[in-house]
Amino acid sequence: MRTWIYNIGCLAGVDTHGKLRLQGEEMAHLECIKEAWLLLEDERIAAFGRMAEWNAACGQTAAGPGQVDVEVDARGGYVLPCWCDPHTHIVYAGSREGEFVDKIRGLSYAEIAQRGGGILNSADRLHRTSEEQLYAEALERAHEMMRKGTGCIEIKSGYGLNTADELKMLRVIRRLKESLPVRIVSTFLGAHAVGRGYSQPAYVDLVVNEMIPEVGREQLADYIDVFCDQGFFTPEETARILEAGAKWGMQPKIHADELASSGGVVVGVAHQALSVDHLERMADAQIETLRGSRTMPTALPGTSFFLNMPFAPARRLIDAGLGVAVASDYNPGSTPSGDMKFVISLACIKLRLLPEEALNAATLNAAYAMGLSREYGSIAAGKVANLILTRPIPSLAYIPYAYTTPLVERLFLRGKEWTM
Ligand code: NIG
Ligand code: FE
Repeated sequence: MRTWIYNIGCLAGVDTHGKLRLQGEEMAHLECIKEAWLLLEDERIAAFGRMAEWNAACGQTAAGPGQVDVEVDARGGYVLPCWCDPHTHIVYAGSREGEFVDKIRGLSYAEIAQRGGGILNSADRLHRTSEEQLYAEALERAHEMMRKGTGCIEIKSGYGLNTADELKMLRVIRRLKESLPVRIVSTFLGAHAVGRGYSQPAYVDLVVNEMIPEVGREQLADYIDVFCDQGFFTPEETARILEAGAKWGMQPKIHADELASSGGVVVGVAHQALSVDHLERMADAQIETLRGSRTMPTALPGTSFFLNMPFAPARRLIDAGLGVAVASDYNPGSTPSGDMKFVISLACIKLRLLPEEALNAATLNAAYAMGLSREYGSIAAGKVANLILTRPIPSLAYIPYAYTTPLVERLFLRGKEWTM
């Protein structure tokens, strides 16, 4: 099937260099073609160029190339690669607005967790919820994210906290993977908190000796994550868990430095983590730890916003020559939102990223942080056609500027329009 999208006001995020990630000053460049067309062939991007050149080549005005199956008049809207969201926890049961009110009354995220709320609260609910119901709730969240322009989603387990419930979560993720046209990758996060009824060492043993082999045997996870932070898991425990995961081919993506400078960045980089995420309390020394590594620092500004916490030092990371990705962290406790456009606005407003930097952080670098940037995250011939078409807008900067205005008008996933 061939789809021709024409009258594109601006085709943004064009990549002619085949870069898998952008670092430092590269992040401020987002290649654009004004007055463009784009040709999709089946699931993939086939070609693109300028309207004027197309018209000259064909001696036509705005007519399609003749042999296309679908013609889409973009009416001056912008076309961009879909948002990639490399850190979410969208498989969960119910909601936790009670804790939201507790926080307004003055309790901190860590205090709520210490009182048995937080992640354990979600684990109790998940335990009582059927796989079917969990799937229905997660599907609704995924649809909500898609309507806002997200085309690649990483989803973590971590509200099971016993073997059966962790597997239940991962099966829900697998079902989402199989049923949705978005690209989904799954991450095993058994070490999200110590499950009820276990001592800390007994729980780490359970993760290493029972959960990881079962997840591995069923091939339920692409990646492995640990909440390496004060009050959760130590760098030593994290290293042990990552080494056990590596035996089953699970690459690490780590929760680090959210509650304290936790040592998570060091252990993540030492284990070739694809990303280290959160970093709200990352010390400047970790910039040197990250330099030269394959690890993508990933900021979650929605979490800082929702929890009233410090923001990750994304500006300093980019100024030091490193890359940065952003993600929503969509979860019931620390940020119940998967709105990547709002995340892009927060990246500009709170992380002090330029619009081009924020857009690169939410597309190519975000795809890199989930191991997908060969196939997603930019406009390049051969990449999967997961695309956003906006309503007509005056400039790229308008996207983060109009911070609550819905701009995504149409969505193409695997080369086909998805009805919003
Ligand atoms: O990334 N920080 C750890 N995990 C999640 C929050 C989980 C929860 O509160 O339910 C996060 O913010
Ligand atoms: Fe998270």
